[in-house]
Amino acid sequence: MRNISINLNGLSNFIPASSINQYKFETKNLVASLLSKKGKGNDFLGWITLPNEISPALLADLNQTAEKLRKQSDYVVVIGIGGSYLGARAAIEALSHSFEFLREDSKTKVLFAGQNICEDYHYELLEILKNKSFSIIVISKSGTTTEPAIAFRLLKNLLEEKYSKDEVKNRIVAITDKKKGALKLVADKEGYKTYEIPDDVGGRYSILTPVGLLPIACAGFDIEKMVEGAKVIAADCNENIPFEKSITEMYATVRNILYGKGKKVEMLVNFHPKLTQFTEWWKQLYGESEGKENKGIFPAGANFTSDLHSMGQYIQEGERILFETILSVGDVKHTLKVPAFAEDVDGLNYLAGRRMDEVNKMAELGTMIAHIDGGVPNIIIEVPEINEYYLGQLIFFFEFACAISGYIINVNPFDQPGVEAYKNNMFALLEKPGHEEQTKKIKMKLKK
Ligand code: PA5
Repeated sequence: MRNISINLNGLSNFIPASSINQYKFETKNLVASLLSKKGKGNDFLGWITLPNEISPALLADLNQTAEKLRKQSDYVVVIGIGGSYLGARAAIEALSHSFEFLREDSKTKVLFAGQNICEDYHYELLEILKNKSFSIIVISKSGTTTEPAIAFRLLKNLLEEKYSKDEVKNRIVAITDKKKGALKLVADKEGYKTYEIPDDVGGRYSILTPVGLLPIACAGFDIEKMVEGAKVIAADCNENIPFEKSITEMYATVRNILYGKGKKVEMLVNFHPKLTQFTEWWKQLYGESEGKENKGIFPAGANFTSDLHSMGQYIQEGERILFETILSVGDVKHTLKVPAFAEDVDGLNYLAGRRMDEVNKMAELGTMIAHIDGGVPNIIIEVPEINEYYLGQLIFFFEFACAISGYIINVNPFDQPGVEAYKNNMFALLEKPGHEEQTKKIKMKLKK
């Protein structure tokens, strides 16, 4: 079986290969401190051993719950935000038929709520669900996050309008902390089926816990294969593997060399729209892990070739602060050839009989050459195909590399103190009990 790999040829104009090796000892030392739990945020390293520690019994239980939810519902609504949402959404979109909801044989549809506070979004969701059968997976590690808590109230109310007390209980699964938080209290009180999020796994590193795995199983995908893929990469994340062979160490190192050279924005790019949400997951992972103490590469994303017709101009000729990491997919699932037209009015008959994927791959290569010529270094992550196994590999690859990368810039990659600022202001503005002083202050500020 092939594995994902990294190709650094697109850096040769920017970083001499020999200079990457100079970082070997520093990077290896950081990996050692990560694995020996001596580095920053060492109480949040549970994700490192997740692929090997997740038990077959838990996987079987998750599959069983997913099967039950699928059988009893047209829709499963996953409520969560940030790390309690993005991983599941990324995997489900990557693995699903592009038009899953329009297929007559469509499996249970997974919908998302509580990832925003938009009234219209939630009104329209309730409107759709009113006449459908649905179940809820509510996910919050803290159990107190405002966005999912509001969505949970709305959807729980709707379930209660439609079903008996027992049936409501049967239709809610909670994934939360094992001891604390409002969600844990409600789940215990009402007797919901509950899964725990381990104490030492933060939201954005939680996709290989029930947080990601239950929704993914609900959408009908093979979570065992995903964990198997993650295990393959995890097996190579240690001090013994040579630096040049370690894809995680290489990626973490080169992106920071580029950062040191003024490339402050990394664009994760794909040529397959199914990876759009994967980019959103990656943006959270790197943005929340590294963006602190006024440091960190800004993680951005683009979907090509679509965005070549919008962002392409900037990437080619704008400020030279960018580098790109391409998720380069080997095989696609289907075959579709460009048709011949009797009259070649559009001049495309030179492509007739050739696969769309060949055109896409030449667009990818052409873009890479153009961007490198324009001063944008390129890192390629080669993904043999989009399936559960390789997604599992990609997930662990990016997680481990992110932790090393955070250590390279000397921040704690496992906390997110900055996300409290907006919450505190929102609570003050909404006059949440206990925030009276902040309410006064913010009102004064607004008057100025
Ligand atoms: O990565 C993180 O820790 C955050 O994005 C959280 O997952 C997000 O804020 C949701 O938190 P919670 O699961 O406590 O509701």
